[in-house]
Amino acid sequence: MLTKAPRGTKDILPAEVPQWRFFEEKAREACRLFGYSEIRTPIFEHTELFLRGVGEATDIVAKEMYTFTDKGGRSLTLRPEGTASVARAYLEHKMQGEAQPVKVFYTGPMFRYDRPQAGRYRQFHQFGVEAFGSQEPALDAEVIMLALFFLQSLGLDNLALHLNSVGCPECRSRYRETLVAALRDGVKQLCPDCSERYEKNPLRILDCKNERCQAVTKGVPLLADELCNGCREHFAAVRAVLDALDVAYVLDPRLVRGLDYYTKTAFEIMASGLGAQSSICGGGRYDHLLATIGGPDIPGIGFAIGIERVLLALAAAGAGEAAVPVPDVFVATAGVTPAEVLPYVMELRKAGLAAEMDFLNRSLKAQLKFADKKGIRYVVLLGEAELQAGQATVKDMQSGVQEAVALGGLCAYLAERLKEENQ
Ligand code: HAM
Repeated sequence: MLTKAPRGTKDILPAEVPQWRFFEEKAREACRLFGYSEIRTPIFEHTELFLRGVGEATDIVAKEMYTFTDKGGRSLTLRPEGTASVARAYLEHKMQGEAQPVKVFYTGPMFRYDRPQAGRYRQFHQFGVEAFGSQEPALDAEVIMLALFFLQSLGLDNLALHLNSVGCPECRSRYRETLVAALRDGVKQLCPDCSERYEKNPLRILDCKNERCQAVTKGVPLLADELCNGCREHFAAVRAVLDALDVAYVLDPRLVRGLDYYTKTAFEIMASGLGAQSSICGGGRYDHLLATIGGPDIPGIGFAIGIERVLLALAAAGAGEAAVPVPDVFVATAGVTPAEVLPYVMELRKAGLAAEMDFLNRSLKAQLKFADKKGIRYVVLLGEAELQAGQATVKDMQSGVQEAVALGGLCAYLAERLKEENQ
C-alpha cells in the first residue's frame, strides 16, 4: 500500500511531462491571443462556497467532495472545480472595479470522489477560463471559439461541439414543473440516481445515459422549446455569431450540465477515441453565481478542459508527440574523481549547456554506452591526461568523430556545434 498512489490518482512521470508542457504552452498561447490573464487560487476553499456555488443537489456536492475539518474546526473542501473559486477571488479582490470584462484562466488539480475509470480520476487537472461582467452573446461565442481554437492548436480535429441553453431561473423553474408532471408516471422505471434526481434535480434526468431513463424521458417537453423571450433571443444571438464564424455545432436540447450555476448558454466538446468519458470540455454562462455566493449580480461565462482526457485523445489521435529533453553534453571521466570533474560540468551549465556526468563510477566504456542510450550527442572525455594537458577530447556520438579542444574554449566550441545542429 505504501508503494501505491491512492486510488484515482496518478503520477505524471518524466516521460509524460513533455506532453503536459506542450498542453500548457498551447493553453498559455491561446489565452494570450484571446486576452485572458492567469489567476492562481488555493486548492481548498470553505466548503460553503461549493455548497452554495455548485449547488447542494448536484452529484459533485452531494457525493464527490473531499471535505475535512481543519485543526481550527473549519469545514474545508479540496476544490472539485475552478469556477466557484475564481468567482470568489473576483469578489474578494473587488475586480468589479476593474475594466470589464475581467478575463482570467487557470490550470491545476481538482478533486472529485467518483468511481475511477479510464479518463476519470479522483485527482485530475483542468485548464479553465472565466470571463466576468458581460452578458453579450458575442462573448459566449468567443469563449467557445477559444476552447476550439486551443484544442485545434494541439492537433485535435475530431471534435464535436454540443450546444444548448438551460434558460434563466424564471423559465427553468417553470419548465421544471412541466418536466416533473411529464415524468410522474415513469418515476418507478427510473434508475436509482434518477429517482433521487426527480425530487432534487429533475433536469439532470434528461442527460442520464441509462436506457430505462432515456425511454422514460423520450418525448417529454424540452426546455429549448420553453425558454422565455430573453433567453431565446440570447441563444439565437449566440448561434448567429457562431454561424457567422462557420463554427459547426450540434444542438443538444438534453445537454444539462452537472453544476447548478449555469444559465442560458451551456456547451460541451467531445473528442473521439475516448469511450465513455468523451467530454473533454464543459462550460457555459453563470449569470447569478456571484450573487449566489454573496456578491452583486454580475454575469460570467467560462469553460474547463480536462487535461488528462485531452492527453488521452491526443494519444488516440497519434498527435502532439513531444520528447523528453535530452542533455546536450555528457562529461565522461577516466581516472579522476567526480569531485574533480564537477567544476567543468558546472562551467558548461553556466554557459547554458545541459550537461550530465557519471555518479556511479562506471568504466569509460559503460559511460559511453549510457550517453548513447540517453541519446546525448556530445561526450567530453576528461581524464587525468586531459586535465594535465588542459585539453579535452570531444566525441560526436552521431558521426563518431573525435576532436581535441582546449579546456578554455570548450564551452564556446560546444555551444557553436549545438547551434549549428539546431539550424
Ligand atoms: P465539468 O464539466 O464538471 O465543468 O468539468 C470540465 C471537464 O473536466 C470535463 O469535461 C472533463 O474533461 C474534466 N473532468 C471532470 N471530471 C473529471 C474526472 N473525474 N476525471 C478527469 N477529468 C474530469 C466544470 O468543472 C466547470 N467548472 C466548467 C466551467 C468553467 N463552467 C464555466 N466555467
